[in-house]
Amino acid sequence: MQPSDIAPRDRLIVALDLPSVTKAEAMIARLGDSVTFYKIGYQLAFAGGLPLVRQLAGAGKKVFVDLKLHDIGNTVARGVESVAALGATFLTVHAYPQTMKAAVEARAGSDLKILAVTVLTSYDDGDLHAAGYRLGVSDLVEARAQQAQVLGVDGLVCSPEEAAALHKVVGHQMKLVTPGIRPAGSAAGDQKRIMTPARAISAGADYLVVGRPVMEAADPKAVAEAILAEIVQALA
Ligand code: C5P
Repeated sequence: MQPSDIAPRDRLIVALDLPSVTKAEAMIARLGDSVTFYKIGYQLAFAGGLPLVRQLAGAGKKVFVDLKLHDIGNTVARGVESVAALGATFLTVHAYPQTMKAAVEARAGSDLKILAVTVLTSYDDGDLHAAGYRLGVSDLVEARAQQAQVLGVDGLVCSPEEAAALHKVVGHQMKLVTPGIRPAGSAAGDQKRIMTPARAISAGADYLVVGRPVMEAADPKAVAEAILAEIVQALA
């Protein structure tokens, strides 16, 4: 494993996949100091959750805004500037060259890092073909990862199973952020390609995104602490 500049505690990103700001604030209070990095996606953002980005950043937390932007360059750039002004740490965009280029240019001078989603993990070769692509998933992931690197994108969202292969393609400067994490014994839900926190770290994941195993736990703080302990142990 490569040495890393990321603090072990910051490697756990807890997805606040909740239907309301009230529920999100209650969860943040329960998790307290155990979680330093949160993800806000469609569900909470469209339920009035975007002001939480500024609130959390003001409280010293990091926030990953997972809105997977994709539009004409100018619109992407203006959106990225607004997300940067909220104090977010990560923002996702789809890995189309124009979109990535606009996002990288627009985040210049801020602390925001751009993550590219290469191919949605719910897509297989048949889905790409139906959408008019000639390449299969693995070739398209690799091509887009290379394009992202050339364009100066800061990191990629990928499955932990792809982490080792992707680090070989893009090196270790680009950070790999992996959902599909399940502590041993927790339910997979709709995730198909899953890994435990320890295995994902050993496979080269830089950041782990965990939603339901924490959100649905009887004791979310205990689950988050257990994941952190596993991360620390895997890094030792
Ligand atoms: O509940 P779970 O741990 O499966 O949550 C994973 C989080 O990561 C969700 O917020 C989901 O939207 C997100 N995600 C994902 N797969 C991707 C990209 C993001 O599961 N390829």
